[in-house]
Amino acid sequence: MKNILLIGGSYGIGQALANKLSDTHNVHIASRTKEHISETITHYTFDVNKDDITTINLPEKLDGLVYCPGSINLKPFTALQVVDFEKDMMLNFFSLVKVVKALLPKLKKSDQASLVFFSTVAVKIGMPYHTSIAAAKGALEGFAKALGSEYAPKIRVNVIAPSLTDTPLVSKLLSTEEKKKKISDKHPLKRVGSVDDIAAIAQFLLSDNSSWITGQVIGVDGGLSTLQTK
Ligand SMILES: NC(=O)c1ccc[n+]([C@@H]2O[C@H](COP(=O)([O-])OP(=O)(O)OC[C@H]3O[C@@H](n4cnc5c(N)ncnc54)[C@H](OP(=O)(O)O)[C@@H]3O)[C@@H](O)[C@H]2O)c1
Repeated sequence: MKNILLIGGSYGIGQALANKLSDTHNVHIASRTKEHISETITHYTFDVNKDDITTINLPEKLDGLVYCPGSINLKPFTALQVVDFEKDMMLNFFSLVKVVKALLPKLKKSDQASLVFFSTVAVKIGMPYHTSIAAAKGALEGFAKALGSEYAPKIRVNVIAPSLTDTPLVSKLLSTEEKKKKISDKHPLKRVGSVDDIAAIAQFLLSDNSSWITGQVIGVDGGLSTLQTK
C-alpha cells in the first residue's frame, strides 16, 4: 500500500481526501487537532508554522504528500499590513517549502512520488481583496512548476486551484443562504464547491491513473476561471 502524508486533513478538503484514501492507502495526517480523524489513520500533532517534520516518526518511504493548510484573509489592499502578507506567505508558502525540503529523501524512495498542493482561482483571475492570498498562492504555483521540472520523472508535482468550497475555512463567507446563493450564482455551474469535488481530483493526482501528469495547475472552480455566463 502507498504511504500518503497529509499536512492538514483533520477537517475540510484534507479530511474528505483522507477518508477517500484510508481503505486503500496508509494515510498519515500531521495537524494541530485530531477530533474528526478516523481511527484507521495515523495522526501526529503538528503545527507546520512551528514544528519540525523530521521529528515525527514517519515511514521511510513516502509515495504522496498533500499540503492542506491555507488562509483566506480577504481585505482591501489598504487594510492589509505587510505583516498580513508575511503571515499568509508563511502558512501558504514558506512552511510548505520547509516541509517539502525535509521530506525529499523519503519521497525519492518512492517509484514515483506525487505532490499535491492547493492554490486558489484568484491567482488565475484577479479578484478584489485577494492581494495577500493571491500573492502567497502565486508563489506556491511557481514553486510547484519549478520543483516538478527539477524532479521529473521521479516526483510529480501538481496544484489544484479551487474556487469557493464549503469548508470551515470559508464558513463566514457562506454563513447565510443569501450569501451562498450570491456566490453560487457567480459560478457558471451555479453552486459552490463541495469537499468531495476537490478531494476527488487530489485522489486522482495521487494515483497511478495520473502518472503522466505533472507541473499542472488544475482549476476545480465551477467554471469560474475560464467561462463567462450568459
Ligand atoms: N475552501 C475554499 O473555499 C478554498 C478555496 C481556494 C483554495 N483553498 C485552499 O485549499 C486548501 C484546503 O482548504 P480547506 O478549505 O480544506 O481548509 P481548512 O478547512 O482550513 O482545513 C485546513 C487543514 O489544514 C490544517 N492546518 C491549518 N493550519 C495548520 C498548521 N499551522 N499546522 C498544521 N496543520 C494546519 C487544519 O488542521 P488543524 O487546524 O487541525 O491543524 C485542517 O486540517 C487550503 O490551502 C486553501 O487555501 C480553499
